Amino acid sequence: MAHLIGIDVGGTSIKAGLFSGDGKLLGVKSVPTGALDNAEEFAKVNAGLHELIESHNVDVADIVGVGLDVPGPVDSLGNVGMLANIKLDATAFSDAIKASFPGARLAFINDANAAALGEAWVGAGRGQTDFVMITLGTGVGGGIISGGRLIAGHVGAGGEIGHITVNPGETEHCGCGRRGCLEQYSSASGIVRLYKQECARLGEEPAELKGPSDSYTVFQRLAAGSAAAEIAINRMCEYLAIAMSQLSAVVDPAIFVIGGGVVGSFDVFKEQLGEKYRATTLLPTRCSMIVPAELGNEAGMYGSAYCAMQLL
Ligand code: BGC
Repeated sequence: MAHLIGIDVGGTSIKAGLFSGDGKLLGVKSVPTGALDNAEEFAKVNAGLHELIESHNVDVADIVGVGLDVPGPVDSLGNVGMLANIKLDATAFSDAIKASFPGARLAFINDANAAALGEAWVGAGRGQTDFVMITLGTGVGGGIISGGRLIAGHVGAGGEIGHITVNPGETEHCGCGRRGCLEQYSSASGIVRLYKQECARLGEEPAELKGPSDSYTVFQRLAAGSAAAEIAINRMCEYLAIAMSQLSAVVDPAIFVIGGGVVGSFDVFKEQLGEKYRATTLLPTRCSMIVPAELGNEAGMYGSAYCAMQLL
């Protein structure tokens, strides 16, 4: 019987979902993300995929479609334009997956575009013809659904919200090589970067962080009254609101769906973000709602499976 696999390549883990041909999620397997540029790493991922299907008594021959999302602009043939936050040889990686599932058609999609399709399919975007998905994780990603269609653009860079320039005066470089991108302020790592900067400026002892993307601890510091955390979260919201208001002037979404790891702290920043958005955006677009994603970290996985389903 026909089955599908949806793969989401994240900064810390690669998540794969096994789906029945009619789109029911049967099981999930997660593999830690290594440097995805060598045969050994590809073999680890493939081993995880095989474990997943075997544990559900599904044969390799039954896998008719595999959707692969990547954290960078990618066209429908799998050509990746750039990768700001991850080491990945996308061509060699997809070749390894193709070789492992020879009967499957392979679909390529950007990770945040996949998250948008996932949320449109079974999440917060269900029934919405116009919404913008924003993923706040290691990077900042975006997926734009306009008139019921995903706007992926000419080279797959449609919705590269994280690289909207929000601060032309920035001196530090973004992972994309430019300066002043939204991602430098509103991603999990951007929040941590701002927090550390402010601690140094204010002479505040920084909290012990569990890594460069541990924004959760910064939100906890905010609750504990840290001035550095307050300024960092304030700037994070301010820049995000600027980008959202510009998006509203282009696609006028009914809702913004916020996903990615940072959404775990949504309740802490939602009011501030809403206020800043309404203060910045064009009057008629003030009514756009800002809601959290419903599929959490599984949105990309759902969306890439959905994308593979469209090829059949
Ligand atoms: C990439 C996007 C991606 C986002 C989240 C950005 O740096 O350019 O393509 O969607 O990170 O992974």
